[in-house]
Amino acid sequence: LARNLVLSFETSCDETSVAVIENGNQILSNIVATQIKSHQRFGGVVPEVASRHHIEQITSCIEDALTEADVTYDDLSAVAVTYGPGLVGALLIGVTAAKAVAWAHQLPLVPVNHLAGHIYAARLVEPIEFPAMALVVSGGHTELVYMPEENRFEIIGETRDDAAGEAYDKIGRVLGINYPAGKPVDELAHQGKDTFNFPRAMDSDENFDFSFSGLKSAFINTVHHADQLNESLSKEDLAASFQQAVVDVLSDKTVRALREFPVKQLILAGGVAANKGLRDRLTSDLAAFPQTKLELVPLSLCGDNAAMIGAAGEMLYRHGERADATLNADPGLEF
Ligand code: KG4
Ligand code: ZN
Repeated sequence: LARNLVLSFETSCDETSVAVIENGNQILSNIVATQIKSHQRFGGVVPEVASRHHIEQITSCIEDALTEADVTYDDLSAVAVTYGPGLVGALLIGVTAAKAVAWAHQLPLVPVNHLAGHIYAARLVEPIEFPAMALVVSGGHTELVYMPEENRFEIIGETRDDAAGEAYDKIGRVLGINYPAGKPVDELAHQGKDTFNFPRAMDSDENFDFSFSGLKSAFINTVHHADQLNESLSKEDLAASFQQAVVDVLSDKTVRALREFPVKQLILAGGVAANKGLRDRLTSDLAAFPQTKLELVPLSLCGDNAAMIGAAGEMLYRHGERADATLNADPGLEF
């Protein structure tokens, strides 16, 4: 039986990544060249810096991915690439590289939505069972996605302003924590208590949408006010209070969604899915849904990576999704 091998590309933000995925669910290689250090001194991702790094890294990432997987271009069935959403200049590097490889080796080119990639990372652990629900939480996105069947994505709720990860990064800066602040804030939170009772915006609204900018402002105002009074606040308690507010709204809305859309699987995906508070909370909330299996994407696959793009790409390839040499980056791509 011929092996089904997909070479996949991910360059939507600040990780240059190339992977080789077998049969859509087995990682033969997953090379991730991170640029975080270059962006840290600016306090966030600088698009031009990101593009330049992608250009510098992409060729060696391709070579490393093929070498580590022990395959050649001739073994491949398809090339898959993230074409949006993301930073346009960053996306273009992956799209251009993928087009070049596909054209040079006469391989089908499969365009992949970055969010579908985050969700399909779950497949690298276990098959996704439909209907399924995904809570996708990252630096750029906070969405509840209902999937009645394979290759169907319906956004039932999303953030009206900041993404959850973006809120972590912004309040982290106020605490003097480097970008990306999610993990350190998560760790601080586990040493503190929820004493500040920050707002839980839209928590009791009859919809599945989120809002984090009010929480972010409340946090920043609390810290500035204390600074003016020369009071010192516990960073641990601040972090714990912030995290409790985020976890409360994310889990409450997800539970509400599961009541309205009964599913076989709930997938927690995206960079913020690495959050321990959120993983623990969903694990205990899901006890009330014995028909729904919780699939927590493993920590190593929560952040941006090309393996997840290959996992989604193989599914899309089977469904006949194809792009040609006119494929362009689509920074605002939606499902
Ligand atoms: O998915 P991702 O790697 O990139 C985007 O597509 O945005 O997500 C990165 C985001 C950052 O905002 C980072 O602070 C956040 O994920 N993050 C976390 C944790 N680990 C990473 N947020 C909360 N808790 C964590 N443990
Ligand atoms: Zn992402």
